[in-house]
Amino acid sequence: MNHLFLKNIPMFSELKDDILEKIIALMQKRTYRKNNVILMEEDAGDTLFFLNKGSVKITRLSDDGREVILSILGDGDFFGEMSIFDGESRSANVIALEDTEVFILKRGDFLDLLEKHPKIAINLLQELARRLRKSDQQIEGLSLSDAENRIAMSIIRLAEDLGVIKMGQVVIENLPYQQDIANMAGTSRETVSRMLNLLQRKGLIQKKGRKLIITNYEDFQKQFG
Ligand code: CMP
Repeated sequence: MNHLFLKNIPMFSELKDDILEKIIALMQKRTYRKNNVILMEEDAGDTLFFLNKGSVKITRLSDDGREVILSILGDGDFFGEMSIFDGESRSANVIALEDTEVFILKRGDFLDLLEKHPKIAINLLQELARRLRKSDQQIEGLSLSDAENRIAMSIIRLAEDLGVIKMGQVVIENLPYQQDIANMAGTSRETVSRMLNLLQRKGLIQKKGRKLIITNYEDFQKQFG
């Protein structure tokens, strides 16, 4: 396996090549097809996952059996760290949104790396702080705004997690299903469909198959963020 892919993972991006080579030697590659369950809530677990290709949704089931999407992660992101640190079972399900390739690292090997390379720990803490901020925003958004604003806010989250920004436009190549967006925003698929059509008619977004373009991201954020 080539260690260069580790350079795309922010947690490892500043490490020298010889260290990256040692890290990649500790990792195992796994692939999942679209919709495969990678981790199940309540399972025991002591491995950390790095996303090399693809994207995943982090979900839990509500009391009445609806799927709630806590987050969507893409290239270079990691997951599975919570059980590694607190020794509890997996806190959520992780499901592939498309064909996905991951590299996994065992708990003991990861803890050794953190001790030897404090930079990895600092990068990890930075990302965890970012995730907590996003969750705080999500809690605020879910409790304050109406369904249409919540959908727009979910689109902003998707833009941040999966989109590529170019000349003021954000392109999301593989937009999750409308049902997934509904599960992020706590609303129905029909409301998502209606809202996407409305945003399209207003010229704020363009949809072409699975691709979604936010025409002017700054304006979109001003209006809904
Ligand atoms: P773990 O609990 O081991 O397994 C499920 C993983 O989902 C968890 O580690 C985190 O990596 C990830 N996860 C759980 N909640 C969130 C969240 N709110 N945002 C991003 N990732 C999360």
